[in-house]
Amino acid sequence: MPPQGWTELYDWRVDRNDATPLFRQIYLQIRSAILSRAFPPGTKLPSTRALASRLSVARASVVAAYEQLFAEGYLAGKTGSGTYISSDFPEAIDKGPTRSGKRSLSNRCRVALPKRPATELAGWTMESQDRPFNTARMLVDARTVEAWRMLTNRAMRSFGAHHLTYSDPSGFIELRRAICEYLRVARAVRCDPDQIIVTAGSQQALDIATRVLLRPGDEVWIEDPSYPLTYHALSAARMKLCPVPVDAHGMNVGSAIRSASRAAAAVVTSSHQFPTGVVMSMARRLELLDWASKTGAWIIEDDWASEYRYSGRPLASLQGLDDGERVIYLGTLNKTLFPGLRVGYVVPPRQLLGAFVNARYLMDRQPPSLQQIVLAEFMQEGFLAAHIRRIRLRYLKQRDALVAELARRASFHLTVDAPDQGMHLVAYLKDGHSDVEIERIARESGIVVRAMSPLYKKAPRRSALLLGFSGYPPQRLIPAAVRLAAVVQKALKGGHLSC
Ligand SMILES: Cc1ncc(COP(=O)(O)O)c(C=O)c1O
Repeated sequence: MPPQGWTELYDWRVDRNDATPLFRQIYLQIRSAILSRAFPPGTKLPSTRALASRLSVARASVVAAYEQLFAEGYLAGKTGSGTYISSDFPEAIDKGPTRSGKRSLSNRCRVALPKRPATELAGWTMESQDRPFNTARMLVDARTVEAWRMLTNRAMRSFGAHHLTYSDPSGFIELRRAICEYLRVARAVRCDPDQIIVTAGSQQALDIATRVLLRPGDEVWIEDPSYPLTYHALSAARMKLCPVPVDAHGMNVGSAIRSASRAAAAVVTSSHQFPTGVVMSMARRLELLDWASKTGAWIIEDDWASEYRYSGRPLASLQGLDDGERVIYLGTLNKTLFPGLRVGYVVPPRQLLGAFVNARYLMDRQPPSLQQIVLAEFMQEGFLAAHIRRIRLRYLKQRDALVAELARRASFHLTVDAPDQGMHLVAYLKDGHSDVEIERIARESGIVVRAMSPLYKKAPRRSALLLGFSGYPPQRLIPAAVRLAAVVQKALKGGHLSC
């Protein structure tokens, strides 16, 4: 059922200087709106009386136009409830731009259009299926839902004129204060509330940083393998990407200096490398900061998912070690809470603050009011800390259940790393078997896994499956692990899956 009432917004018109009879002009206008899908099936048309008055024509002209459309099958009537666009059309509907139209658009477009469609690009994070081992799902328990509802109701009760208008592009100060306190205590970030800029997530924060700091053609170090949305966002902004291999200590800074020492920036997931889960060692962190301060390069630290740590003490953020104001710190609550939230933040060095705020303002004005009020109170009143405490234990149980089941069923073919933090694990395929093929076959059996090897650019590819465990309780993870083990076993027995 399409939204109702929108035909009132339509630009209805007749031209009295045109020799075409008025009833035919009305007929042609409605027919063309149907064929272009401006009026989809099920749309309710205005009454003949209302349309006649809107167009200042005799009602008989509108009645004649509607009768013609009825006769041709475009309209269907519902007794007593008006006139609707029919769902069976007599002609093929306009299917949007032609292929040649698309080609000329990409020729004129100045940003690099990714070759793959957005739905495929977004596949990494937009998987809608509620199926293990989708990495884009998080647990939100009844207590969090209850708290969120209560705070939303409360925020609605106090929702007033000052929330309906334009506000600070960096976000409400109450929320920025709460984020600042959280970052100081949990991530050792050096910041003040006025230095926090609220964004729609890490992705928007990266976009702002790119606009402010980089020019097309600049060399940028990225991890190899890397998070695909970072790779695509930077390449769409026409950066010259320099993939830097990741080893057990994180991004190999020495190798990057040897191959591209004059790079303008490095983007790192130093606390929890995506996708491998490696934590960048202190020696590498210091090497990276030293390079940046000597060359004037920027470090963009994507500090995602560090809240969910299961053993050992978390290493503090890179930003907290930075004496030279070279680190731009990005973070997100979309993983800590849930991706539909769309709240993240960027903490730029003070000298860049004005430029970052301006870029955010020009891009998107400000964050939405209601979400900010609710989230600020959720943080201030201790619900976020309690959520992290409870959910961390649940994720730990889920991780352990999955690791144990895979060890029991698939250790012959898979080497599983039990990660110290995060929401997915990496299961390496032994004997160089193809992760891409396993991904395809697993999907046919209703299991969502992600092959890791396509995330490499130049470094030798490792064949592995990324398995998200955050979204599913053990009673769903275990049967899925049993099925995955069977899929892997069957596929590898066939012996046709070598890389
Ligand atoms: C490396 C990395 N950074 C950031 C994010 C979160 O992005 P956002 O806040 O835009 O949802 C993800 C989500 O999967 C990620 O994998």
